[in-house]
Amino acid sequence: MIASTFISLLAFPLVTAFYLPGTAPRDYQEGEKIDVFVNTLTPMLNSKLHSLISHDYYDERFHFCQPEGGPIKQPESLGSILFGDRILTSPYEINMMENSTCKLLCQSSVPKEDSKFINDRIKEDYGLNFIIDGLPSSEMKRDLKTNEIFLDAQGFNLGDDETIPDKPALNNHYDIFIQYHLKEGYHSLKQFRVVGVLVYPRTVNSMISGSNSPDCFNTQPLYLSEATNNEFYYTYSVSFIPSDIPWGLRWDAYLHVFDPKIHWFSLINSLVIVGFLIFMVAMVLYRTISKDISRYNAIDLSEDVQEDYGWKLVHGEVFRLPPRPMLLSVMVGNGTHLIMMCIVTLIFALFGFLSPSNRGSLATVLLICWTLFGCISGYVSSRTYSTLGGNQWKSNLILTTILFPIIIFSLIGLLNLILIFNNSSGSIPFGTILAILLLWFLISAPLSILGYFYGMKIGSFKNHSSQQQQINSIPRQIPLIKPFYLKIFNSILIGGILPFGAAFVELYFVLSSLFGNRAYYAFGFLFLTFLIYILTISTVTILFIYFTLCSEEYRWHWRSFLIGGGSAFWLFIYGIWYWISRLSFDSFTSVILYFGYLFLFSLLDFLIGGSIGYIATYFAIRRLYSSIRVD
Ligand SMILES: *[C@@H]1O[C@H](CO)[C@@H](O)[C@H](O)[C@H]1NC(C)=O
Repeated sequence: MIASTFISLLAFPLVTAFYLPGTAPRDYQEGEKIDVFVNTLTPMLNSKLHSLISHDYYDERFHFCQPEGGPIKQPESLGSILFGDRILTSPYEINMMENSTCKLLCQSSVPKEDSKFINDRIKEDYGLNFIIDGLPSSEMKRDLKTNEIFLDAQGFNLGDDETIPDKPALNNHYDIFIQYHLKEGYHSLKQFRVVGVLVYPRTVNSMISGSNSPDCFNTQPLYLSEATNNEFYYTYSVSFIPSDIPWGLRWDAYLHVFDPKIHWFSLINSLVIVGFLIFMVAMVLYRTISKDISRYNAIDLSEDVQEDYGWKLVHGEVFRLPPRPMLLSVMVGNGTHLIMMCIVTLIFALFGFLSPSNRGSLATVLLICWTLFGCISGYVSSRTYSTLGGNQWKSNLILTTILFPIIIFSLIGLLNLILIFNNSSGSIPFGTILAILLLWFLISAPLSILGYFYGMKIGSFKNHSSQQQQINSIPRQIPLIKPFYLKIFNSILIGGILPFGAAFVELYFVLSSLFGNRAYYAFGFLFLTFLIYILTISTVTILFIYFTLCSEEYRWHWRSFLIGGGSAFWLFIYGIWYWISRLSFDSFTSVILYFGYLFLFSLLDFLIGGSIGYIATYFAIRRLYSSIRVD
């Protein structure tokens, strides 16, 4: 009892990460018009996801009803555009507190050429998305596990292809339920606030010959014929339903976390992994080594020092310049940049600054952090480079600033081209691309250069106090590594699976909400998971490098980066598994897009993990070798 109360107390901020309302409430008088905005059509994740391409609501092939004078674009934040929102006005007429039934929206005609397009989209489970008073249209659902009622905002079906398989019916009638909250103002002035929006679509062949008004209660569904042109009505009904949810809590019903138990289970599971690893590292680094050190330092100098074994033998080698120090420092710099971006964004999310009512705020904050933390990539790269003993600082500066941004921009640009060729509304508009390029060129890149010079001024990470970093003039011979787990490829695989294992349940939820077009809210869990991920990578890499050094293989620089980034390999494999089990794309384009994004995420994960591994190992090794006495 006490334990469960404690857990639910703890869980509260973790689950919902309380949010600050992004906008002021809007009070409506009776009869005042409520705007209905339409967003893109997105594929819905029911049992499987069929596509990754979203379509503009006013894509000509859909023939949806247009407002008089044409639809008008609504202003949106950069992040909202990046996440695929395209919000436009619509011809729906909804007035506060005025119920209506079977209102005619317009008569639509779909030529036979476009019927196939619409029918295919129905088969792919596309959903419509309305936005009313800032709230997404949703369906009321019951979580079968917890029996809780929640609002699922992943859109409502364009059509129905389940009642009769292979015979898709178009949903041309919408029952819109608006939950309102009554607020008595001064002089008993009644004011109403919208606190929930539910839309239930259905298909009805409402055009009856001999009548010129729609019949919304006809029991026949509407099928679009691909042989002849189609004429039919779009209709809607509106009901206002009183609700006692106050305006300030109206998002709560949307912030449903599926299976909080599984989040907890995964978190505890990861904590066990990381606890075990930290224990191992503590054992190794503080008991074995301190014993080693005292024995080593106590050696009578007359004794034969050649009897030494293990990591101490390579003290003259560990700080030898690794191959390609340039690339290594550039990667560590850019990786650290990404780590800082993730951490600060997660902290923002944790404190509720990323309110769901501010559409796209997550992407906006990510973008801002990425821009401002450009200085970190320069700073870390220059200090790492000089630690490694590099001296071509001009090339290093240029590569740090442009290499990975250009790789990532080109990849995104390529995927964007594919989207444009497919007429998807998910493609990033030219203005947004320009804005991002300017952000990079005018703010991020100069900050990176500034950070680089500041890092140069401070110099390397070496501590200058001791002679520990002396390097033998002749490189030692490296014996063949015996244990199989220390072979480079094996250690990447083994080292990578632990951080991946610590994070993958949360990753599953992030992916589901990303593909299900649902916002993700369990930022508390995500933050803790990220911390555990960092700890796991650091400890695993240190352990592996320690054992490697013990077997007298001293080339640890790249090894530590690769082992740290090993989770990227598993991420990619997991992506393939997710594709096989949860996604069933009908078009080859979606497959290409999916693998493009998967590759991009794996690359970012590789940079992040590799940098964590390298930095953690560097400081562990420095600590390790500064504690022994070198003659
Ligand atoms: C509108 O319809 C709903 C349910 O259909 C009903 O509860 C409500 O009282 C009606 N409101 C008005 C203003 O007629």
